[in-house]
Amino acid sequence: MQRKNPIGVFDSGYGGLTVLAEIIKKLPQYDYIYLGDNARAPYGPRSFDVVYEFTLEAVKELFSRGCELVVLACNTASAKALRTIQQKDLPQLAPHKRVLGVIRPSTEIIGQLSQTNHVGILATEGTVKSLSFPLELAKFSPETIVHQHACPMWVPLIENGRHLSEGGKFFIQEDIQKIMAKDSTIDVIILACTHFPILKDYIQTLVPKNVKIVAQGAIIAEKLEDYLVRHQELDKKCTKNGEVQFLTTENSEDFDKNASKFLGYAIKSEHVKLG
Ligand code: DGL
Repeated sequence: MQRKNPIGVFDSGYGGLTVLAEIIKKLPQYDYIYLGDNARAPYGPRSFDVVYEFTLEAVKELFSRGCELVVLACNTASAKALRTIQQKDLPQLAPHKRVLGVIRPSTEIIGQLSQTNHVGILATEGTVKSLSFPLELAKFSPETIVHQHACPMWVPLIENGRHLSEGGKFFIQEDIQKIMAKDSTIDVIILACTHFPILKDYIQTLVPKNVKIVAQGAIIAEKLEDYLVRHQELDKKCTKNGEVQFLTTENSEDFDKNASKFLGYAIKSEHVKLG
């Protein structure tokens, strides 16, 4: 059988597909495996220990399927599990493999996007409480004033396909009003949960015209390209047949139906059991 070393892309559910879509657009030549832990989403309200344990299981699964590089396309997992996996687990598990997250690449450029230097961050409760965004931003752009706001209703609404129902819109409007009320000079809102870009067009209708709504996908894709150029030894190991495989811990038919809304085309996934 032909050897395959795809790039792994992991999220608690569908959200990481917004990142995968941008990565494929930028780097179509690589092979990818997407893994959505839909059965255990949302991760946002879960404790550090649980998010770490679930994320490590997913990383191990992706390693066992030939991935040399895994992107945690999930802010909550990046905030709560990435550092421990990189520092504690990787050296024993697979010292030559790499796991990357989405928070640092985002905070590296957020400061350049705002004219007023007042930025809003919309994320899960877990990401907000971890303070990962303000702490990382303080390194790359200390003059930027950051306002975080947690949107705990959004991921369950999106996972259930109810985000643009009347009820869904009510919660989204309420959260947007809350973040804008914190500081009327905010001119950039970062969708710091990979589920949220599916709401981007709707959110744009709820804010003043000068406020930019920024999704992370294109930023992550660009940083990944740069990373692979700088790490040629790893890049050489990643196979390049342009194939994409999808795994979900939930029912694969449901995943296929919902995933096509994020990707804009039909896919066929397989069920996988973690842990
Ligand atoms: N999409 C994820 C994130 O970027 C996680 C959402 C969740 O499972 O709560 O944070």
